[in-house]
Amino acid sequence: MKQMLNVALPKGRLGEVVYQRFAEAGFPCPALLEKSRKLTFENPDAGVRYFWVKPSDVAVYVERGAADIGVAGKDILLEYAPDVYELADLDVGKCRMAVAGFPEFRLPEGQTLRVATKFPNIAKTYYASKGKDIDIIHLNGSIEIAPILSLSDVIVDIVETGKTLKENGLEVLEEIVPISARLIANKASYKFKTDTIRTIMERI
Ligand code: PRP
Repeated sequence: MKQMLNVALPKGRLGEVVYQRFAEAGFPCPALLEKSRKLTFENPDAGVRYFWVKPSDVAVYVERGAADIGVAGKDILLEYAPDVYELADLDVGKCRMAVAGFPEFRLPEGQTLRVATKFPNIAKTYYASKGKDIDIIHLNGSIEIAPILSLSDVIVDIVETGKTLKENGLEVLEEIVPISARLIANKASYKFKTDTIRTIMERI
């Protein structure tokens, strides 16, 4: 029997784009694209089993070996630093991590900058590299509201088209790092399924 490769894909449009590349690389599983609420799909002939997971959870599945490989945003890899191999930059899901706020914002002398974000570790590391002490406000979404309601001075967040910032009167103040989707692998799986994983890595 063929050895199965378990692949965690991020649920949503990015996952669908990435799946096409796996299919073209020789690991098709057409049932995956049928509209249903099913979360796992397999194609024993191609030796592959896919599951849709929340994008921010892909690295957890891969780190713990529930998935051999997966596709995760660089933002998640920087934030959680999972113990996985980062094999390839897929050059999709491109955006940037940035500091944003009101264009005229100036921090009053002697005050600590209040930063609202879904990415506390990225924010801490960035400001630490600049020798700046900050007060982190950890939120889970709609981060743009924080400066509007004076909950924070600035935000550290993902900017893709810039539309959300613009429509809320905010703008990018500093760029932190470019982000894109990465192919990641569980370390033990990489050792035992090297050939299959390398094939995908090269073709994708
Ligand atoms: C993300 C991000 C920004 C927005 C950026 O939020 O946190 O809010 O997308 O995209 P844009 O530059 O194209 O406008 P998401 O849609 O994940 O929702 P969230 O508010 O729940 O984090």
